[in-house]
This record gives sequence, structure tokens and C-alpha cells, in this order.
Amino acid sequence: MATRGDELRERLVRVEGRLREIAAEADAPLDRLAGETIAAGGKRLRPLLVLLAAGHGDDGGCAVADDAGLLRAAVAVELIHSATLVHDDVLDAAPLRRGVPTVWSVAGRQGATAAGDYLFARAFGELVANGRIDEVQVLSAASSALAEGELRQREDAYRTDVPIDRYLWRCELKTARLFEAACRLGALESGGPAEALGLFGRRIGLAFQLLDDVLDVCGPVERTGKPRGTDLLDGTVTLPFILARERDRSLLDVRPVTAAEAEEICDRIAATGALEAARERALAMVAQAKDGLPHADAALELVADNVVARYA
Ligand code: IPE
Ligand code: IPE
Ligand code: MG
Ligand code: MG
Repeated sequence: MATRGDELRERLVRVEGRLREIAAEADAPLDRLAGETIAAGGKRLRPLLVLLAAGHGDDGGCAVADDAGLLRAAVAVELIHSATLVHDDVLDAAPLRRGVPTVWSVAGRQGATAAGDYLFARAFGELVANGRIDEVQVLSAASSALAEGELRQREDAYRTDVPIDRYLWRCELKTARLFEAACRLGALESGGPAEALGLFGRRIGLAFQLLDDVLDVCGPVERTGKPRGTDLLDGTVTLPFILARERDRSLLDVRPVTAAEAEEICDRIAATGALEAARERALAMVAQAKDGLPHADAALELVADNVVARYA
């Protein structure tokens, strides 16, 4: 008999196949740019959440007999995420993503804009086949929030005195809302508790972004796929910096220009203990997320723990 794990693995393989198919359906050169984006991998955390949220409260069994709609939702969420990253790398002028050169660095601004637009459009093309307006609304709301979050980040660039609440709101918009959408879509496809699962997704999404920002300061490139101090170089002021500047006021004046300068500031941030403090905040958010689940769910709790454990 197939276990829940077998079923999950099999669904993730089908999600992967569909992502590749969609990329290959574009005209050249978009097929190559979209295909390379998908082939570069990634953790596939958001489609995993869609699939797991659909099994919530089901005692580990399969909540969805006909899973075509569920898979379309998982694919759609990953396509939005991938599109966002391709566009984000243009905004951030990022050279490396998922350990390989970004579309922006390979194909320039125009190529990356078009490739991101293609993936974005196909996400809605995929989801609409489910014939559910509520699902399209969920994905549309998350996508609008993403755009607003990215813009706020640009507006706050080089603002070393940005308030913590403003930073958290931006993370909520640019990251947490898509995690929320992933969980909501899984719940909608399975008739589960969409509000409660959405809140769970939102909380772990926020923790995820906090930890991602910690990793930008301390993570080795072999593990993160991007060099340390990328945020500092493009003026993105994140929680580690905000907490560090309260402890070391000389940090308020920094504006690194070279990668070596950025690395040196990363070391100064780490020396203040700000990374541990940021991690603590993320851990508290994960604990709150798990506490708020309507039923105990080992799989979702494991994902929540991993959001912070990957940086231990
Ligand atoms: C990166 O997300 C962007 C953030 C929200 C921090 P992921 O770390 O999930 O990216 P991939 O898909 O695994 O590359
Ligand atoms: C990722 O944001 C893109 C969005 C969540 C919209 P970041 O700029 O913080 O993520 P990385 O560091 O490039 O992956
Ligand atoms: Mg970026
Ligand atoms: Mg960015």
C-alpha cells in the first residue's frame, strides 16, 4: 500500500514534470530562459506546502482523491515564486541564484523581464483550469502583495534607520503572503480550514524571510547559492542590520561598495549578536505558527521547523 510519503513524492515529481513542460512550451529564447530557471531547482517549499496543507487533519491519509487540481495549484504557486525571483534578480542586480548565473546576468534586463512575465502569466493559466474563482483570487492577492513588497524594498533602499515594523511589513508582503496562499490553496482543494492554514503559512513565511536575511549575512555561498552581503550591496536594510545598528551605532553610516567591504560589514553585524537575536524572533514565529494549527500535523510542523533549522 502506498504511504503518505510515497504519495507526496510522486506528486512532487509530477509537479516538477509539469513545470518543465510549461517552460518548454514557450517560444525561443524564452523556452531556454524559463527552462534554465526551472532546471536550476530550488527547495520547492511552496508547492510542498500546497500538497501538505491538503492533507491536514486527515490522519496522514490522502485527503484529495482526484489530485489534478491540487497539482495545478502547486505548480501555479511555484511559477509565481520563480517569476518573482527572476524579476527580483533584475531589481537587485544579482549575479547568482540557486548556485547558477541569474537570467538577468545571462540575458539582460529585457530577457529577464520577459522570462519572469512568461512564468507569471503561465501560473494563472495553470490555476484557472481548476475553474475556481476563489483560488484565482488567492493567488492574485498574493501576487499583488509581492509586487507592493518589492517596491517598498526599493523605496527603503539605503535607509539605514528603517523602523523594524516597516521592515516586517515588507517581509509580510513580499514573502509571507505567498506562503499563506500556498497553504490556502491546499486547504481550498481539500475542503480544509483555509483561514487557519493560511495563518500558519503566513507565520512561517515571515520566519523564512527573517532567516533568509540572516543567511545573507552569514551563509557560505556553497549553501546559499549567493555571496554574503548581497543585501548590503544593493542597499536592502534587513533585520540583522536593524538589530546590529542598535548595538553598534557606527554601523548607521555604512555604505559598502565592494564585495569585500560588504563581507567586512557582515562580520561587524555578526559581532553584535544580532544574528542570534534575529534567529530567536524567527523561532518564536515558528512556534506560534505550530501552536495555531487546528490539528497536530507532523509533516507541516516538520516543514515549519526546517524553515529555521536550515540555518542552524
Ligand atoms: C527565496 O526563496 C526568496 C525568498 C523569499 C527569501 P527560496 O529560498 O524558497 O528560493 P528557492 O526556490 O529555494 O530557490
Ligand atoms: C526575494 O527577496 C524575492 C521576494 C520574496 C519577492 P530577496 O531579495 O530578499 O531574496 P533573495 O535574497 O534575492 O533570494
Ligand atoms: Mg534578491
Ligand atoms: Mg530582493
